[in-house]
Amino acid sequence: MSNISALLAEIRRPENTSDDVRAMYDKWSDRYESDLAIATWNAPVEAAKGFSKVFHQKDGRILDCAAGTGLSGVELTRHGYSNIDAVDMSEESLKLAEQKKVYTNIICATLGAEPIEGVEPDIYDAVICSGGFLRGHMDDRCLPELVRVLKPGGIIAITTNDFNGPSCVEGPTMARLKQEGILKSVEKYKLEKYLGDEDGWFLAYKVMNK
Ligand SMILES: C[S@@+](CC[C@H](N)C(=O)[O-])C[C@H]1O[C@@H](n2cnc3c(N)ncnc32)[C@H](O)[C@@H]1O
Repeated sequence: MSNISALLAEIRRPENTSDDVRAMYDKWSDRYESDLAIATWNAPVEAAKGFSKVFHQKDGRILDCAAGTGLSGVELTRHGYSNIDAVDMSEESLKLAEQKKVYTNIICATLGAEPIEGVEPDIYDAVICSGGFLRGHMDDRCLPELVRVLKPGGIIAITTNDFNGPSCVEGPTMARLKQEGILKSVEKYKLEKYLGDEDGWFLAYKVMNK
């Protein structure tokens, strides 16, 4: 676990740029799953489990954000979901995600304030994000873009790390979206032992208005 702890500490450094984080995941991709199996990575299992409680349309069109090597997509198929696209900025991770054969479309893009190139508005019924909201990774500035690609009534389901608190999700942009009646919180509970001994959160929101 000590090498993994050092790697995780490096990945979570607040001064990392998106390019730094992308390069780290590209380099780590071939050992990502075996390293995290040793560390006990429960985020994808918990994300899909929580998702199945808040989104019931099994053939609904789903966008798996920060899909990485596809662990969350595999878990979604175990719950019966069949119409899943993946987006991540790490091309090397996405090559492994493709091999899982659980995604319809695979998009290599950095999620942030800018629109995801080639993705039309109002096309997804739900978004899932397992482990993508983290310091130096995604934060709440990408939420307007997730709202843009979701249909009205769409669901956003997130597992995030207690290490940073849920604040990378519940930041100023989220506060604005809630205040404007665009997003509403529909689920929030703590996840024990999300990554090794670290706890996390399952959070879910509904698009109320666009
Ligand atoms: C901890 S991994 C989670 C991967 C997968 N969802 C899982 O549960 O195993 C975080 C992923 O987020 C991706 N990522 C981080 N910031 C991103 C961003 N701004 N846009 C797109 N992908 C991002 C990384 O490339 C990495 O694959």
